Parts: sequence; C-alpha cells; structure tokens
Amino acid sequence: MKKIITTLVISCLIIAKPFAQSTGKLFVYADDAKQKISKHIYGHFSEHLGRCIYDGFWVSDTASIPKKDRLRLDVIEALKKIQIPNLRWPGGCFADEYHWRDGIGVRSQRPTMINTNWGNVTEDNSFGTHEFLELCNLLKCEPYITANVGSGTVDEMSKWVEYLNFDGLSPVTTIRKQNGHSAPFNVSFWGVGNESWGCGGRMTPEYYANEFRRYSVFAKNYPNAPLKRIACGPNSEDYNWTDVLMKNVGTGMWGLTLHYYVVPKTWSDKGSATTFDEKEYFTTMQKTLKMDELVTKHSTIMDKYDPNKKVALVVDEWGIWTNVEPGTKPPFLFQQNSMRDALIAGTTLNIFNNHSDRVRMANLAQTINVLQSLILTEGNKMLLTPTYHVFDLYKVHHDATLLSIKVNAPDYTSDGRKIPSVNASASIDSNHVVHISLVNIDPTNSINITTALSGVQWKTVTGKVVTSTKFNDYNSFLNPNKITTSAFNAAKKEGDNLLVNLPPLSVVVLELK
Ligand code: AHR
Repeated sequence: MKKIITTLVISCLIIAKPFAQSTGKLFVYADDAKQKISKHIYGHFSEHLGRCIYDGFWVSDTASIPKKDRLRLDVIEALKKIQIPNLRWPGGCFADEYHWRDGIGVRSQRPTMINTNWGNVTEDNSFGTHEFLELCNLLKCEPYITANVGSGTVDEMSKWVEYLNFDGLSPVTTIRKQNGHSAPFNVSFWGVGNESWGCGGRMTPEYYANEFRRYSVFAKNYPNAPLKRIACGPNSEDYNWTDVLMKNVGTGMWGLTLHYYVVPKTWSDKGSATTFDEKEYFTTMQKTLKMDELVTKHSTIMDKYDPNKKVALVVDEWGIWTNVEPGTKPPFLFQQNSMRDALIAGTTLNIFNNHSDRVRMANLAQTINVLQSLILTEGNKMLLTPTYHVFDLYKVHHDATLLSIKVNAPDYTSDGRKIPSVNASASIDSNHVVHISLVNIDPTNSINITTALSGVQWKTVTGKVVTSTKFNDYNSFLNPNKITTSAFNAAKKEGDNLLVNLPPLSVVVLELK
C-alpha cells in the first residue's frame, strides 16, 4: 500500500512540475560601472594526465587527423572559437615532478620518466616546452607555466625563465637557438609550485612563503618579459594559508592561487557524472555556490594586507570532479560532462565576474578528456561538451566592464533545502553593448524575470541559450549535439523594461544594444 501511495505522489509531482512558473526581479546598474572583467578569468588548464595532452592535444605521428606537427587542429580551432585567453601547463601535481630540460631537443633522444601521480605511465617527453609554446601560439593564447618547487631547484626554474625570456647570449639561450627558436618566447605568467600543501611537497605555509620569496629572487625579469609570479595559495577553506602568505609575501607576488573542486558526494565515492538523482543534483549546485563564499572570505583576508587589491586571486583549478566513466582507467580521471556541468560553469563564471576586482585569472580543470572538459575525443572524433558552449556564450564578458546588479529570485527548494534559483552577472563592452548572463538552476520551474535597467541605453534585445530537459543529459559520440547553443527568444522589451522567461536548467546570455 505504501508503495502505491509513493508512486502516486511521485507521478503527481512529475505531472505538475513542468508547468510551474515563478517570478523574479533583476536590477542592472549601468550607471554604476565597476572594473574590467579580465579575460584571463576564462583560462584553461592542460596537465600531463590521462588523455589530456597525449591523445588529446598531442596525437601520434601516424594519426590521420588534420594536425600541425602532432598538434590536433580540430581541437585548436574549437578553442580559438571561444577565444581561450591562457593555458596552464604542465600541471597540476605533475608540475612538481617535471624537469623541463627532459622535454627539449631532439625528441627521440629525450629521456623518459614515470608519471607517478597519474597511473605510473611512462612519459616520453615528446610534448615539452617548445611544443607547448607552439600550441599557445596556434591558439593565440598566453602560456601560464608552473615551475617545479616540490622536487626541483631554484636554479632549474631560474634557467627555464632565462631559456624562454632572455634575448642575449647565454649557455641556455644558445641551446634554445639550436632547438630552433632564436627569439625569446617572453612568457610572463609563472606559477611557483602547485599545491605545495599537498602533492607539491606537503609544506607548511610559513615554509612555502620563504620558498616563494627565494624562487622569486632568482626567476628574473628580462627586458620585454616582466614576470607575473603566482604563489601557491590555499586548498578551498584553508584561510590560514592565505593569511600567512599575505603576511609574509604580500604584494611581492602578482597572484595567489585558490583550488576548489565541486565533488557531488565524497572524495572516496565522488558520484557519477551522468547518473544522479535530484538530491545529488541539489547538493552539487549548493557546493558550486560555495565558490562565492570562498572567494569572498579569501578576498577579505587579502584586503587586510593589500587594500588596493594589487595581488590577484587566481582560481587556477576549479570545476566538478566525479567518478571516472565506467571501464576507463581510474588514474586518468576521464569523466562525462552533462547539463549539470553547464550550470556549474555558468554559475561559477558569474561568481568570478562579480568578484573581478580580486579574481583576475582562473583555469577550469581540465581542457580535454579529464574532469570538467570542454572537449572529449575518441580516435578521430571530437565533441564539444555543454561546458564548452557556456564558455562560448560568456566570451562577450572578456575584458568588458562589470556592471553592478541585484538579483531577487525565488529559491529552488528540494528535500527541505533551498538555494537561490537564479544567478547573474552583467557587463558593458567597448561598443557600449550590454551583456547579461543568467543561470536558472531550478530543474522544473521557469522563472519570469522583470528587469530594471538603470542607465542602460538600448533599443533591442537578442539572446542565446544552453539548456536541456534533464540535468543529466549529455553529449555522446552517438549524439554529439544533444546540448548545444540556440537562439533565445523569450526576452522582450516592454517600454524601458526587459522581460525574460528563463526556462528550467538554462544558461542564457542576453545582448542589449
Ligand atoms: O586536476 C587534477 C589534480 O587536482 C591536479 O593535478 C592537482 O593540482 C589537483 O589536486
């Protein structure tokens, strides 16, 4: 009997929910323009991990895919379309085991190594410094290199910087020239170690702060290549790490990193990328919104030592981390990417935009075939994930000016818990075009938003949307375009007001001009 009643109740909910609608209000203050949203918030991350570099960016000599050298051109074209601003490399945990000299010179003579972090696979070093910088050149993006502090030396980082950035005659620049690059590469973004509190050496913040200062002294600024030195920052809520680094290094660094992953369940059983119920979906979105709290609290600590906000908060690892796809190698971290991932991306990027006074760089983990990827590959085939489409929509915010906003939206409630259903950000670009990005995480309610636009000059509104009927819908190689971008026609101008009907599970970007 109990079972029958439960079934009836669930059926009623399923029938009733799709017709639900609620209302909300969005205020956009174009007369309260803020700072520029750095395009570097839209950066990406490529580690020697699983199939990200090898069989992702870098394919075999014999692969019949269009390629330059061994760099896959379809992947490059896709990333150019979203105007990828920077790419972080070579890790991750891998960075603190990597010795750059092993990855230069004649490929067949490069030594091999074991990638102990990611499955003990043999790394043949065929993708090294020159290959990475050629990739960035083709992508027209800035390189962001993380140097080895955990198992490397000060001299090793210092000589790497010299090899890449010095225009004069020295033993290492002579080798660079022999390796085919006479002009310096002028790489400015340098990470000094990765997760030095964990896989990068299990250091205390006090010890690492000293190490950072020492490495910084010998990583020189050469003409035309002043360095942006980025210190290893906290793991999610480790506020003490931020405090110690700011106290001991302060404005002696360009940026301080923050790593935060959204893990739907627990670290030992993270949950599936595509098979989950509403309860797990809710928890995942709640954990996504935590990024706002983390950024706010770390920024407040940074303000204490750096009130003029010279030091950037660099969220150089973020995204959802689930169990690997069944049948794939656990250390390769290969996961699918669903509509939930798109909502995580839209929400997190809104948070970063709204905190762009402090967050001036970020890197989603990781670009291809690992964690929250933009692109998945299978042999010659490639697909764009829902997350990719969100980055495509949001590229209008790159280097635009942030506008103040206020969102009054109904809560999304599930199982007695509630979180805001809608989040947003807005910017104005150099052509005075206003863009508003809106995310509705509620899986059943569409939301009618009325918008008060103070100081916005506009005559028309157009929009684009990424949406799907189920939060666990995804693009597969059998159905690669299930979730894609389409025109959004549910926004209209009525007098001075903008009226928007946001569908459930949607990421929308509106353009007002
Ligand atoms: O992105 C995967 C791993 O997560 C990175 O190598 C490491 O920095 C983090 O713990």
